[in-house]
Amino acid sequence: MSFTFKDFPADRDDLRADVLNGLASSPKSIPPKYFYDEAGCRLFEAICAQPEYALTRTERALMASRLPDIAAAIGPVDCIVEPGAGDCAKVRLLLDALHPAHLVVLDIAGDPLATAAEALSRDYAGLAVTALGMDFVHDLEAAAPHLPAGRRLVYYPGSSIGNFPPDAATALLTRFRQLAGAEGQLLIGFDLKKDPQRLHRAYNDAAGITAAFNLNLLERLNRELGADFDPSRFSHYAFYNPVAGRIEMHLVSLAGQDVSVTGRRFHFALGETLHTEHSYKFRRDEFSALANSAGWQLAGEWEHDGFAVQLYGSR
Ligand code: TRP
Repeated sequence: MSFTFKDFPADRDDLRADVLNGLASSPKSIPPKYFYDEAGCRLFEAICAQPEYALTRTERALMASRLPDIAAAIGPVDCIVEPGAGDCAKVRLLLDALHPAHLVVLDIAGDPLATAAEALSRDYAGLAVTALGMDFVHDLEAAAPHLPAGRRLVYYPGSSIGNFPPDAATALLTRFRQLAGAEGQLLIGFDLKKDPQRLHRAYNDAAGITAAFNLNLLERLNRELGADFDPSRFSHYAFYNPVAGRIEMHLVSLAGQDVSVTGRRFHFALGETLHTEHSYKFRRDEFSALANSAGWQLAGEWEHDGFAVQLYGSR
């Protein structure tokens, strides 16, 4: 067992600049990567366990039941690379089936990642685990020196790709080709288009966990930027937009109000939205067209109960 952790601390000024920028735009918005402070990570894991949010369970069931087939399609692999690995729970199934020598996990939430990756390395004797605390969307180059030579598989489960608008998704999939290398492959899970009522319920759980996750963003800005948001004067509003093919998540102002962030004042009109996240849904052919545009070639696909996993190789 070996474990290495390297942190590339998220720059406070980034949060500050991104938030000030987002609040000055129209419509107002904040990049979703800032959801994941410590409280946000805990709430996110709770979302995945909500009865209405089937995505995580469905993906796990698919992976578990089709694992021999998926592993055979992938073939021998020296290293698994997982961007956004979070609690490192999902990759265990693949480790059991593929027995790579190396695992490289990346996440913007460095400390929770390090804890989870170290625990994982204790469970897998002989696996070399490297944890990189970084914003993999921007700092991917910094990961390069930590990638072992050999056949690498990039694993990107959980429909996280759907949280990027199409252009950014193509750019990210292109960068994944650099992470994977010339012989590399990509195994990616994404949520399929389905009954909008079912989608709607998934992002509006009865226990209010998704609402708390969304509103925690304001509390984080209060904590870290000394902002004075009153979360009780904003409403979590998430809905499926069938024209754009995505869930849209917003925080809608329940009153005309001024908010101060690092000494600057921003006005919210009654009913004005602060947009926080998109979650795109795909058909399988739509997704493979997107992956093709990033240079990936479809090599296998599996579907279960409204969720798909696809395997890609480089052209
Ligand atoms: N990518 C998953 C999804 O879009 C998980 C996720 C990211 C999520 N942000 C979220 C789920 C916010 C609920 C709310 O479903």
